[in-house]
Amino acid sequence: MNFWEKCRKNFHNRAGFWKYFSFLKDSKLKFLLAIVAGVLYGVSSGFCIPVILKFSSEKVFSQVDLPLYTLLIVSIAPVIAMTLRATFSIINAYYLGFCGQKILQGLRVMIFDKIQRLPVEYFKKTEPGALITRSLSDTAILQETIISVSQEIIKQPIALLGAIGALVFLCYKHSNVIILLIFFLAVALVVFPIKAIGKKMQEKAMGLQQTTEGITTKLAHNLSAVQEIRAFAMEESEVSLYRSMCGNVMSSVMKSLKYSIIVSPIIEIVASVGIGFAMFFSYKMQIQPAVFIALTGALYLSYEPIKKIAELNNRLKAGSASLSRIEELLNIPEKIYDPANPMPVGRLVGNITFGNVSFSYGESEKALCDIVVQMEHGKTYALVGSSGAGKTTMANLILRFYDVTAGAIKIDGIDIRNMRLKDLRKNISYVPQSPTLINGTMCDNIKWSAPDASFEQVIEASKKAYAHKFILNLENGYDTMVGEGGARLSGGQKQRIAIARAFLRDAPILIFDEATSALDANSEREVHIGIENLTKNRTTILISHRFTMMSIVDVVFVLDQGKIAEVGSPEELLHQTDSIYYSLYQKQQGLK
Ligand SMILES: Nc1ncnc2c1ncn2[C@@H]1O[C@H](COP(=O)(O)OP(=O)(O)OP(=O)(O)O)[C@@H](O)[C@H]1O
Ligand SMILES: [Mg+2]
Repeated sequence: MNFWEKCRKNFHNRAGFWKYFSFLKDSKLKFLLAIVAGVLYGVSSGFCIPVILKFSSEKVFSQVDLPLYTLLIVSIAPVIAMTLRATFSIINAYYLGFCGQKILQGLRVMIFDKIQRLPVEYFKKTEPGALITRSLSDTAILQETIISVSQEIIKQPIALLGAIGALVFLCYKHSNVIILLIFFLAVALVVFPIKAIGKKMQEKAMGLQQTTEGITTKLAHNLSAVQEIRAFAMEESEVSLYRSMCGNVMSSVMKSLKYSIIVSPIIEIVASVGIGFAMFFSYKMQIQPAVFIALTGALYLSYEPIKKIAELNNRLKAGSASLSRIEELLNIPEKIYDPANPMPVGRLVGNITFGNVSFSYGESEKALCDIVVQMEHGKTYALVGSSGAGKTTMANLILRFYDVTAGAIKIDGIDIRNMRLKDLRKNISYVPQSPTLINGTMCDNIKWSAPDASFEQVIEASKKAYAHKFILNLENGYDTMVGEGGARLSGGQKQRIAIARAFLRDAPILIFDEATSALDANSEREVHIGIENLTKNRTTILISHRFTMMSIVDVVFVLDQGKIAEVGSPEELLHQTDSIYYSLYQKQQGLK
């Protein structure tokens, strides 16, 4: 188990706050150092400074001649205290910042890892914008929170405790408990508004992230429908919708800004009242100047941490709103997972059976009903039927994008739910209708399914897929950049790249879902030969509306409303003039 796998396991096994420490497994020393430095900062800041102030001002205002060494101590003590304070502050902020970033990095990887494990079904229901917001914007807010919080989270509470300690010490020594009472009363007065504002902050931060998710989703939508938007002249309505969504984001930002900016002034006003009272009672009680300076110093040094803690509270609320959205994503059930005791599976032969398989997508009607099918190694099968008959669903089930509702799918006699997902999918080459191309060279794209393949193997695969010729005609051959999403290639060229990928992957089971639908007659013939080459010695499942593809098919399964309605060779079925297959053929030929 590598570091990340251990982290993931620990993360899910631990509860609450502690799970985040899983990511600090190899940074424990840094974390400890940060805490110790934070505590020392707090003590030197909150306690030592008022005490040094008292000691120094007592000496300075004593109106007696001071020996040189006392004067030196009095002058140097604040410098030493401030230097130590600054050093501890730097160590604390740096190492806590490091630990915070380590946790954030862990969370980022966990989110991405989770996205790879989410069931395919989830992506059908969720907009990509929602995932992008959680992966980028929510983690950016967390990053901001971690940076600012890690600088203060230990220092300020300890500084506050230190200052209270100094206040208690001074009041005890000079029996002026009234100052202490004023201080505690003032603290009590500020705590209520801080708590109330913090609660509001969390609500507003949640709202803000939701509106941000809205604009990210809208943007992603817009980018995925560039051609349609222009074709239907939707530009203006798109802009006006986006404008109103941006308006919502702005009003959400202003709402949370309102709460975040009123905290500091409230505390400053209360602090000034506290110091005013301190002056009043100092005069009334004839407090010595040295004690007065130390007391106001301690009061100031205790209000400063309160102010910072209140700001932290707001930041933490905003961060926790983002964190709870991230946790919501991390806690989505994976549904399709590896079995507890997987069967060891190497390269499969490729004999597939559907044993009374039924399946429905969620609560909806059955998409497949009691399917019994046997497919043997080395043969090519076609799944034919009208739109919505269940062809893609059958392919989805073999790939375990979904699990069957009833019955079982077996490959070489092993229930696919007893195999590790990786082992199963390694044995399948899947060529979808619109293959996804990555933004890299032609060669990178073909190698995507088999990163270890050599350049010679890439060329060999391309030749077999009838892609070699068109690739050589591109300006830089195999080094030509494909462009984001393969924008510079035609549908047929993309499909041939996908077929070359399948050659390189060399899996015993092949699934083509409408893989030839985007081809013209010329390239279809070429791709045909490519596919025919590929099917040798493999179990091939061809989902196709094209009857021209049937020449390479051994057995056709005709699906009708989720059931197998007819089975036979293409010739047999074509001879049965009352078959669904025959009527589909007639429709395609324009004869009916
Ligand atoms: N993600 C989904 N959620 C709910 N229902 C779905 C989903 N995908 C497909 N269906 C439904 O399942 C049935 C079978 O769909 P499927 O995609 O398997 O049909 P198909 O035979 O591949 O059709 P086509 O030729 O149009 O690709 C249809 O009624 C469809 O509406
Ligand atoms: Mg389909």
